[in-house]
Amino acid sequence: MKISSHAKINLYLRVKEKRADGFHELDTIFQEIDICDELSWLPGNDPLSLDVKGIAIDNNSENLVLAAAQAFSLATGHKIGGSILLIKKIPVGGGLGGGSSNAAATLNLLNRHFDLPLTQQGLLELALTIGSDVPFFVEGGCQRGRGRGELLEKACVPVDTATQGLLIMPPFGVSTALCFSKWAQTAREPSHHEPQIGENDLFLAACMVEPRLRLIFDELVQQTPTPVFMSGSGSTLVCLTSDNLAPLRKLATQLGCRTTAFRFR
Ligand code: C5P
Repeated sequence: MKISSHAKINLYLRVKEKRADGFHELDTIFQEIDICDELSWLPGNDPLSLDVKGIAIDNNSENLVLAAAQAFSLATGHKIGGSILLIKKIPVGGGLGGGSSNAAATLNLLNRHFDLPLTQQGLLELALTIGSDVPFFVEGGCQRGRGRGELLEKACVPVDTATQGLLIMPPFGVSTALCFSKWAQTAREPSHHEPQIGENDLFLAACMVEPRLRLIFDELVQQTPTPVFMSGSGSTLVCLTSDNLAPLRKLATQLGCRTTAFRFR
């Protein structure tokens, strides 16, 4: 069984407050994009194993694919064995939700394989036990997320927003937990206006975690007219435009970043 596992960007991300449970209250728009990992499962009787190809990730045993399979097994009583192959193309630590997407893809794949033992609501609740962004990826598309990111409602891309663009991926990631932990030091007065595409309240925090991000961002802003903004907790920068992307790509490459063109899904 095979399934694609897509990345997301955050069209805006507003952080409201730190909650008593340690998570931050958010208001964001998640947008699924056409960059994806591929996940395939060969069911078998052996304990479940995971093989990762493509972009290297640190520790397979902590991979959210295995966490999702284990959570599904516990929730439904189905024994899950065999081998999973994950072909990784979504950069790790990039704010593109790759790990969360892989977890949601695993849940969707297993639920289909076992003839839907979990309702959609059950899937969403199980997804949240794995991570704040996982519920979004159960259905994907374009959704507004509040709470930790799990209070979801379908959203529409604003009409004047380009639905394609460029991902600019610095040669380093930013840890989500570390980024949120710096947010309080960077927080300003709460904004009362409607969030604008490209706003990201975690940007300054991400630059505290990784000052090289600020240098790259400033160079891009000074040298190109095309606006760029950060996705999620970084480090990926996004440019939404249907203009010629070649000059921006060239500059980003000179700054040591990888670039990939993408479209909304
Ligand atoms: O939920 P997830 O495990 O993906 O989150 C990773 C870390 O990011 C959390 O442990 C928490 O430190 C931070 N986080 C947060 N508020 C959110 C989402 C994540 O503080 N809404």
